[in-house]
Amino acid sequence: DNPASVRKQLANLFDVSLRATVPDEPDAVPLVDACAVKGGVKFGDYQCNNAMGIWSKIKGKQTGFRGPPAIGQAIINNLPPSEMIDSCSVAGPGFVNVVLSKKWIAQSLQRMLADGIDKWAPRLPVKRAMVDFSSPNIAKEMHVGHLRSTIIGDTLARMLEFSRVECIIRRNHVGDWGTQFGMLIAYLFEMFPNPEDVSEAAIGDLQTFYKASKVRFDSDPEFKLRAQQAVIQLQSGEAKYRQAWQQICDVSRAEFDRVYQRLGVRLEEMGESFYNPYIPGVLEKLDNLGLIEDSDGARVIFVEGVNIPLIAVKRDGGYNYFSTDLASLWYRLNEEKLEWIVYVTDIGQQQHFDMLFKAFRRAGWLPRDETAFPKCTHIGFGLVLGEDGKRFRSRSSEVVRLVDLLDEAKRRCKTAILERDTAKDWSEEEIEKTSEAIGYGAVKYADLKINRLTNYTFNFDQMLNDKGNTAVYLLYAHARICSIIRKSGKDIEEVKRNGKIVLDHEDERALGLHLLQFPEVFEEACTNLLPNLLCEYLYNLAEIFTKKFYSNCQVVGSPEETSRLLLCEATAIVMRKCFFLLGIVPVYKL
Ligand code: ARG
Repeated sequence: DNPASVRKQLANLFDVSLRATVPDEPDAVPLVDACAVKGGVKFGDYQCNNAMGIWSKIKGKQTGFRGPPAIGQAIINNLPPSEMIDSCSVAGPGFVNVVLSKKWIAQSLQRMLADGIDKWAPRLPVKRAMVDFSSPNIAKEMHVGHLRSTIIGDTLARMLEFSRVECIIRRNHVGDWGTQFGMLIAYLFEMFPNPEDVSEAAIGDLQTFYKASKVRFDSDPEFKLRAQQAVIQLQSGEAKYRQAWQQICDVSRAEFDRVYQRLGVRLEEMGESFYNPYIPGVLEKLDNLGLIEDSDGARVIFVEGVNIPLIAVKRDGGYNYFSTDLASLWYRLNEEKLEWIVYVTDIGQQQHFDMLFKAFRRAGWLPRDETAFPKCTHIGFGLVLGEDGKRFRSRSSEVVRLVDLLDEAKRRCKTAILERDTAKDWSEEEIEKTSEAIGYGAVKYADLKINRLTNYTFNFDQMLNDKGNTAVYLLYAHARICSIIRKSGKDIEEVKRNGKIVLDHEDERALGLHLLQFPEVFEEACTNLLPNLLCEYLYNLAEIFTKKFYSNCQVVGSPEETSRLLLCEATAIVMRKCFFLLGIVPVYKL
């Protein structure tokens, strides 16, 4: 619910009108939407679409209405007086079109400038939420899928934060447990008989280390035996084995951190190993509820609508990905008292989470109503593809090192900046910071702008193009606005205090209206966890500013300078909020 939403405010007015227009239809909910452009024209700013539906319900009855247009007209007549609305009209089969008052638009913008944009945030009915994201696996490849999870998850956490959820846990559920550790530990002991010699530098690349240990495992039965024993010793908590495990985790973690540091992403690690001691207890509870069955020696749970069972304990008595997630979800609901848990992984894991949530519903640990809280949501995303349309791989090797990928984006931006004439006016630090903001921002935006469910093709040239729908274009648009304000020589805080917004030019009005729609677009993006809606909004804002407003309305030196500077400032503020929500660092200078 968001009181700043224009749509919501109009819906409140139409609600009053509907009560008066059709008192016998108390269930009629106002259907209010922003008008789309049809054939290059817009018939209003918003429309109310109730008349047709009401007509189909009442047409048999004696109501005095002769058709939907008459109902539409009555809806207009019964609207309470409001400063919001300039005029209303009925169109077509009974749409009520609303033209907002430009004075009201201006005043609303002015209030945002005075009170700050945070007043435009919706309030979600949740106090404690978690986003489980990134979550790479120790000693295995941190691949582009994890990059997507990191980027999308970070944005979702930021969106929840802006929606005034009081506590948001950003959880890194790293894969730090499993049988692969036996092999790694046995190999570590073989390579470094003296544990003091182990270091990140000595181990080097963990993926190569993993591969080498796998070769030993597959070729030497004696090594294989040692590896299998190492797992048992690790699980029984033997100090030497714990230490080796810790060392391997630390090396991986250092690599993950380099990625997070570049992306400016903060995460709280609580890996799979943490939940290990909780697994038996949770399984026992499920067993007592009668959910656990025996299937070929494995312990399984059947859930509604899925024909394969959830394997809670493997045939050999070992635990798996499911065992851990049963325990971790139990922990999150009962110990961490979370109301909303959002899991961000590739779409391939959809069934895993579907089964997990269903098992919890069967146990009565999650409400049957999927929209009720506490609530679990799996946010799936598509594959990252290379330009060849196949799974993304780098040219030189089969694995893509995320750090190299990000560094490449930055390097390309730096080259572009250095090629410009203005480069000589920039300090070393400015060049560094700007290439990072643009390079990493471009990688993030390219991922976030598409619907997360679709596959996305990773392409540096596309994402770094300064003319398309890219972070580069958006960041430059923002920098341009800042430079307009700077060039005016005015103290913008002073202008904010004393200036007034007037929206007489149609392009001023179009910009003002779009700015005012931020709260409702954000709310929709947040409720459906779709950051691409925010990207689309941001891109349209930049387009309206550049192609309409700035092309047709002179700012500095014009008679309307004060009002137009305020519009520039409001645009910059909304853009920066979008950047912030998308995890993009703004740039102030071109
Ligand atoms: N480590 C998993 C992977 O790399 C993702 C973990 C997601 N979180 C969870 N609670 N299962 O695919």
